[in-house]
Amino acid sequence: MKNISRLEFIKTSGSALATASIAPLFSLGNSKKAASSDTVTIGLIGCRSMGFGDLVNALKVDGVTCHSLCDVDRTVLEEKGAEVEQMTGEKPVLYKDYRRMLEDDDLDAVIVGTPDHWHCLNTVHALEAGKHVYVEKPLANSIAEIDVIKKAASYHGKVVQVGQQQRSGKHWQKVVGIVQSGGIGKIRHVNIWGNFGYGSGPDKVKDTPVPEGVEYDMWLGPAPERPFNRNRFHGSWRFFWDYGGGLQTDWGAHLLDVALWAMNVDGPPLMVQSSGGIFSGQNKAIEMADTQTTTYNFENFNMVWQLNGGLETGPFNRNYGVSFVGNKGTLVADREGWEIIPEKSGDDSPVIEPVALQKAVGSNHEVHAANFIDCIRNGGQPNCPVEAGHLAAYYTHLGNISYRANKQLEWDEEGQLIHEETFSDFIKPEYRAPWTFPEV
Ligand SMILES: NC(=O)c1ccc[n+]([C@@H]2O[C@H](COP(=O)([O-])OP(=O)(O)OC[C@H]3O[C@@H](n4cnc5c(N)ncnc54)[C@H](O)[C@@H]3O)[C@@H](O)[C@H]2O)c1
Repeated sequence: MKNISRLEFIKTSGSALATASIAPLFSLGNSKKAASSDTVTIGLIGCRSMGFGDLVNALKVDGVTCHSLCDVDRTVLEEKGAEVEQMTGEKPVLYKDYRRMLEDDDLDAVIVGTPDHWHCLNTVHALEAGKHVYVEKPLANSIAEIDVIKKAASYHGKVVQVGQQQRSGKHWQKVVGIVQSGGIGKIRHVNIWGNFGYGSGPDKVKDTPVPEGVEYDMWLGPAPERPFNRNRFHGSWRFFWDYGGGLQTDWGAHLLDVALWAMNVDGPPLMVQSSGGIFSGQNKAIEMADTQTTTYNFENFNMVWQLNGGLETGPFNRNYGVSFVGNKGTLVADREGWEIIPEKSGDDSPVIEPVALQKAVGSNHEVHAANFIDCIRNGGQPNCPVEAGHLAAYYTHLGNISYRANKQLEWDEEGQLIHEETFSDFIKPEYRAPWTFPEV
């Protein structure tokens, strides 16, 4: 990495170096085996759950090797390092500071599996360092951050795959094809729902000392300083605004993506209105609503996204899903498959043939990871390019902004959010020093 963008990267993140320990946790001699031209070397930032799953899927592709892992929790890092060694026979280099990982010229690509508040810095810095990026959804934790990631991706011209793996799913592609080809007639309404037991937040617990081996300041990163609380940490951080957006952005990024994709949406809606609250009656550790309905109005259809944290049942006997309501029938889909329920004509006969449940086969995750590697090797647009990740995240954030500001959002004819300044607190987070908001 001897080019200008690397120098630029060091300059922009230099102030942070003073506070963070920069050596790899365990140096295995940073000179990993020279890669063949077809080898793709991957590093993983944020190893505990989904990121590791993404790495395992990438390693299933021939010629992909795990170069390094980075995590701020030493226990996670050591455990995952041992798992990779057992799987591949090679020890990855272990880092606790992702910026040191990005300095290695032998590294081709990174997977970003950190909590949402880190996605922007991890991704932009990786692009500046010349790496391809697979970044988990939602693209980032605010509209300003997703905007800057999109700009960085276009500026640096590297492959960016966003972890909305439905885009690689054959049955989702089929669903989108049916909707777009008019198979169920003109669509007037899209209904999206997500009812998840975990979605009302974890039980409250008291603050405690930071667990042994955790670089808590580096876990917080650009987010405000807080005492350590287990609920705000591994796995359940998404219920706190500093790090995530609750079910709205968690499952919203997946399900709204499918709806926006099928309905060919590529810009803002006419209006967004979101309301809700803690209506479950539960007293959990959660800052957002456990019950929330967001309505997006378009010129020719409405889209409604409804979530109920703490529940596990829902419409069409599915706890989550998307239904496209057309003049000829309703298409219902989730990760298990899809079906069509026909409309009835005057004599009660179906307007179109019903389609019984068509079961999904295979793993969308595996295909998605393989597609990322294929784009690195052969070029081409990934199945979920940054624009699609940006759009889905944008829509999820709009819902939370409307909910938090208790206001309806509207756009003018030029597509400009009216009274945007009113929402600025929710659009761009203030980064905690020494971290600075990236400029592209
Ligand atoms: N595509 C999907 O279906 C799917 C499913 C689940 C989660 N996700 C996404 O994956 C991401 C991770 O979620 P998770 O459930 O795995 O979270 P998690 O809390 O289980 O794991 C996050 C890991 O990141 C580490 N981390 C935090 N800050 C770090 C830093 N600065 N440098 C290095 N490591 C750091 C943590 O220590 C932890 O090990 C989220 O964006 C989430 O929305 C996607």
